[in-house]
This record gives sequence, C-alpha cells and structure tokens, in this order.
Amino acid sequence: MTSNSTNYSAKQIWEMDKKHFIHPYNDFSTFADEGSQIISKAEGMYVTDADGRSYLDAIAGLWCVNIGHGRQEMADTISAQVLNMAYYNPFGHCTNEPGSILAAKLAELAPGDLNHVFYTCGGSTAVDSAIRLVHFYNNQRGKTNKKQIISRNNAYHGSTYVAANLTGIHATKNSFDRIADSWISHISAADMFHRPAGAEDLTETQYCDFLVNEFENRIIQLGEDNVAAFIAEPIMGAGGVLVAPDGYHKAMHAICQKYDMLYIADEVVTSFGRLGQFFSSEAVFDMQPDIIITAKGISSGYIPLGAAIISSRVYDVIAQPQCEGGLLSMGYTYTGHPVACAAALKNIEIIERENLLEHVQQIGPYFQEKIKSLSDLKIFGEARGSHLMLGLEFVADNQSKAPLPAEAKVANRIFDHCGKLGLIIRPIGNTIVMSPPLIIDKEQVDTITELLRESINNTIRDLVTDGYISA
Ligand SMILES: Cc1ncc(COP(=O)(O)O)c(C=O)c1O
Repeated sequence: MTSNSTNYSAKQIWEMDKKHFIHPYNDFSTFADEGSQIISKAEGMYVTDADGRSYLDAIAGLWCVNIGHGRQEMADTISAQVLNMAYYNPFGHCTNEPGSILAAKLAELAPGDLNHVFYTCGGSTAVDSAIRLVHFYNNQRGKTNKKQIISRNNAYHGSTYVAANLTGIHATKNSFDRIADSWISHISAADMFHRPAGAEDLTETQYCDFLVNEFENRIIQLGEDNVAAFIAEPIMGAGGVLVAPDGYHKAMHAICQKYDMLYIADEVVTSFGRLGQFFSSEAVFDMQPDIIITAKGISSGYIPLGAAIISSRVYDVIAQPQCEGGLLSMGYTYTGHPVACAAALKNIEIIERENLLEHVQQIGPYFQEKIKSLSDLKIFGEARGSHLMLGLEFVADNQSKAPLPAEAKVANRIFDHCGKLGLIIRPIGNTIVMSPPLIIDKEQVDTITELLRESINNTIRDLVTDGYISA
C-alpha cells in the first residue's frame, strides 16, 4: 500500500481501523480478515483508494455527494465560515447568519407552506425530531392518544432508536430491542415486483387501491383517535429502490387528511436533485406532505446536516407555549451549525448555477434506459427507479423470474467484480443500487453500463461454477 498525506502508512491506518473503528452495518465475520478498503482521495465522479486505484463512484458516496467530489469552492466556503465564526450557541433567541439564510432558502424551495426548518446533524436525527414534534403537536391539540406512527415494510428511516424502529427492513433489528413497538407499526411496501399474496395479478391501479385499502384498514384497526402520522420515502432507497404505483402517494395523503394524520415524506435520498427536483413530493408525486425530512444531498455530504421542514399548520400549533413559560424543549448543540449551513447554501448555489436539476431531467431517463439494455443477461430480473436513483434486481432466470437463493450472494459478487473493473455500486440483497453524482455525463453512463455488463457476465460464470444456475 502507498503512504498518504498523514504521518501514517496505509497499512498502519488499515490496522488502526480494524482494531478501533466500529463501522455501520459491518459484517464482523469477514471484517477480522479483510478489514476496510481505505478511500483516500475523491474528485468529480471518481474516488481513489490507498493503493492508488481509481473507481467511478456510481453511488455518490452513499446517495449524497450530489454535486460531485472535491469542489474547491465548497472547501473555500467551509474554510471562510470556520474563520469567520465556526460555532455559537443556537438555543433560544440566539442565531447565526448561514442558519437563518438557509432556513429561508429551504422554505422557498420546499412546496406549499412548508416554511419552518428544524435542523439536525443527519437524516436519522431529523426523523426522530419530526416524530417528537408530531407527538408534541397532538399533545398541544389535546389529542393525547394520537401517537401511532404507520411506516412500511422495507422502509429505511435511519439508525437512532425511533428511526430504527420505523425502519421496515426488519432483519436490521435482529437482537436489538424495539422499544417503540407499541406505537409503531408497518404496512406493506409499495413493491410492484414482489407483491404480497392476493395482489399478484392486479393492474397497477388495482394494486394501488389494494395498498391504500390496507392502510385505511390499519388506521381503523388502530383507531382514528390513536393514529398520528404516516412516514414514507417517495421512492424507497435502501429497501431496494422500490417505486410505488402511479397515484399512490397522493392517495395515501388523502387518507391521512381523512383521519387527521400527518404525512411525513422522508426525502433524505430523493431531495436535492436525485429525481431532477429540489424536493420530489409535490414536483414528482403531486402531493404536499406536512413534514419533509432531508439530509445527505442538502450539503452533498461535504459536512453533516439534516432537517425536518414543517408546515405552517403544524408550526402554528407547536409554536404555542404548552404552559406558562413553556419552551420547545428539544434541540442539539449543533442545530443550524453555521459551517454546515454555509456549505448547504453553497451547494444549492452550485446546483442552481450549473443547472444540475435540468441536467438530471435529461440524463436521468438516459441512465435508466441504458441499464435496461442489460435485460438480455440471463440473471437480469428488473431495473427500476427514476432519474439518478436506480435498482437492478437479479434472478435465477430472466424468463421465469425465479429468485436466486440469498446464499448465492449475487449482489455481493457483482459488487466484487465491479470493484476489480474500477466501478463502485452498492449491493443490497439480490439487488444492486446506483445513485451517481448529478454531474454524470453520457459517456460515464455508457462506461457504467459496459462495466456492469462485464461484471454481471463474470458473476454468471461464478454462479454456474458454484451450481446456483445452469449454463
Ligand atoms: C430515506 C432515509 N432516511 C433516513 C436516513 C438516515 O440518514 P442518516 O444516515 O444521515 O442518519 C437514510 C440514510 O440512508 C435514508 O436513506
């Protein structure tokens, strides 16, 4: 391994990491031998590891580096804010300039009357904060039993206690406690490819009605006086890029209104350009939620930031003192951190100045089409998504769509082959997901498609050798 810009060799860092760094979603069974891949440099669409190998980053770090890596003006903005005023207390009536300006900008970009911003340090904490506010909102209205939150199987909402309980990828909760089970429940994912029993042969419209009925039945079962909110990603991300049937979000929102529930749109992935809009709830799905959760692309991952953006209707209730002298008693040391907010303002300026939303509107359909051109491959199941958010699911046979067993680890094999060819994708179950930086061009889309074809062909050979599929 080559050395890097610190005083340590890459080998030393690899060992320190292995001994001391607890990584999120780490597979400890292989970590002890393999350790971590160290990514040392990043520029534009590419990252470089400690051995000097370059990779095309088709996942924008982790759905977040939307403007691409290594922008000088982001570094300059962050540096200038650190020197000018790195931090001061945001509690009570104290504020800072970038935090205030960004809140006004977010209110301008968010749909309708979503005019009030509660800042956090990431997506999970924004979800947790939103749920606390929803409960507080109902307490303020005297509806103290309205506490139930309905989420969906396969949803991903984060890793803090409540966000993890809302998450519907249930295997992630094995051996963890579920303290919020009494007020969190899950309904079916809107999953066109793997439909629940009884919904296999429905048309898209009928399937949508099926899901909306399931939601309404759950509300009736829980009791109208007990239901507080529904939380959903516009397109499920970590659950495998699942696109709901047409009209689904609008219909679910109508049910929320019918039962005096709030609709929380978790746009941690789908905001800041990934679907060609700053926010997708209204612009893409024709629905105005009561709360939008955002993070990741808000600062393109240059520095941590998240936010829950709240409607004036909800704000007007939570802004009433709950008792004489009562405060809104929640918040973080780093709420509205000036450096993070300055970075987010610069990030938005770059997205606007470089017309990145228009660019995504054009290149997004090309990306989706090119990946669908892999459908002749024997294990191609389905390519789905929208714009620069894509999932590609693999099966044992592209005609029958028979599933591959989990132990075949098809997505991990493809990930390994892609890595050898200089491409980073993300494996999830039998699906690979891609979410490249918004600056991607047609040539890079073509390169991703070619490298994927080669990696999938190499994987097919391995699967034949190991007896998972026939030649
Ligand atoms: C939809 C969604 N919500 C919430 C989160 C949690 O965000 P964070 O990891 O910043 O806490 C994620 C993270 O991937 C996400 O995809």
